[in-house]
This record gives sequence, C-alpha cells and structure tokens, in this order.
Amino acid sequence: MSKKEGYIGVFDSGIGGLTVAGSIMKSLPKENIIYFGDTAHLPYGTKSEKQIREYAVNDVLFLSQFDLKALVIACNTADSVARHALEEKFDMPIYGVIKPASIKAARVTRNNRIGIMATTATVRSDAYPRTIHRYSEEAEVFQLACPLLVPLVENGRFSKDDIVVRTVLKEYLDQLTAHGIDTLVLGCTHYPLLMDAISSLVPDLTIISSSEAAAETLRRGLQELDLLNESEGGKRKYFVSDAPEHFHENAVLFLGEDAADEAELAEV
Ligand code: DGL
Repeated sequence: MSKKEGYIGVFDSGIGGLTVAGSIMKSLPKENIIYFGDTAHLPYGTKSEKQIREYAVNDVLFLSQFDLKALVIACNTADSVARHALEEKFDMPIYGVIKPASIKAARVTRNNRIGIMATTATVRSDAYPRTIHRYSEEAEVFQLACPLLVPLVENGRFSKDDIVVRTVLKEYLDQLTAHGIDTLVLGCTHYPLLMDAISSLVPDLTIISSSEAAAETLRRGLQELDLLNESEGGKRKYFVSDAPEHFHENAVLFLGEDAADEAELAEV
C-alpha cells in the first residue's frame, strides 16, 4: 500500500466530529478515513486542559495503530488545548479546525469585528483570538462560551423552527451582535447543524463553519505534500470508546441517512 493510500485519522470527543469527517468525505471522496469518537469521555468542552490533553494523546495513540498518512483534530476543544502536545508526540502531518476557520474569518471580515461561538474550554484557551491575530492584527475578536448548544444538538434539537433552539440561540447571538460583528465563527463540531437556525436569526452575518474550513485546508495541505489518494479508496472505519450500539442513531444526526450502521468499540 502506497503512502497516498494511507488513512486520514479523524478524532473528536464524540460523534460531533462527523461534521468534519462528512465535509472531508464530500471534498475528498477517494480518501480512506478512520474516525474515532471518544464517547466514553464526552464532553471535552467542560473539562480541564490537563484532562483534555491526556484524552487527546490517548485518542491519537489509538489511531496510530493504523497506517495513517495524516491526522485531523476535528474537535475544536482538543485543537485549542492539545495541539501542541500532539505535535510534540506524533510525527505526521496534523491538521485541525481552529487555524482554517481563523484564516477564513480574518480574510472575509470587512469591519474587523469577529464573533466566536465555542465551548467553555475553547473560549478559555484563547486559541481563536490568538490565531486570528496572527492573520489580522487589527481584528477584534469577541468570544462566547455557549454550553447549552452541544446538549441541544445531541438531543436532536437544531431545527430553525424549534422555539427552544431559537430562544437559546437568540440569547447567545444578542451578546455577540451587540459588539457589531460582521463575521461569526461556529467554533465547535456540533454547531454546523445549527447553521440554518443561526442564519435565520442573523441573516446579515457571514457565518464560517470550522468543519467546512477544516476540510478545505486539509485538501490543500495533502495536495502540497503530494499525498492525495489517486486510487479507488473511499474506505471508512468508525470507532468509539463507549456505547457503539448507539452510534448509528447519533451518527445520522451529523451525517444524515448515509451514516454507517456500525462502529467498533475501541479500548483506549
Ligand atoms: N467536539 C467539541 C468541540 O468541537 C464539542 C463537544 C465537547 O464538548 O466535547 O469543541
């Protein structure tokens, strides 16, 4: 098997990272992908940095038993706090979500006022403002932890017509729009499912999905390294660290009816 046929390892704290995997599958259908969701330890967004780093290293140790050509940190929280630890420990091209979304936000904002919605741990890490300032010194970044959104989405509540979803979102969005932002980054795996609801509440904002931005950057990165798979490929493997029997019913929320039926249980 040639290097180009190697797997892209994608990991997340749970199933939400399938928004990233789905974007990768769409833009790079020939790539072989192994997905690992650490469902035993979900959520990461409320945990300490030390704990998140430990989990993330274990996640990648698990994926490393496969023939990986690249790694994607699909989880914004893990990318915010564990990236450095992963780069030190693992010798392979590592892609994430924070940098692609930050570059895009810095590029598209017209008034240099950017809002970030993310988990508590991502906000606490300041990874988004730090990264955005590398690409635009003038940008003002306003972050907001939105801890109610992950549980809502995981319970299948993301429709733009759902009054609970609209009420919660409005409370968060009002705080960000008060700063006069023109660009909003959805800095969490789960938030792309809320895209319709968010854009109906703030139709004038440019909304950036970190999941889609990540897939675009991965495609360019693999191209530069001459690592794009040219043969048939398209293999998918799914692993979770707990409750594989619930994988399909949860995965359809994020991948639609195309979601795989099964995930294997991973010992991490
Ligand atoms: N995957 C996490 C993220 O993108 C959200 C869920 C969690 O808190 O673990 O930040």
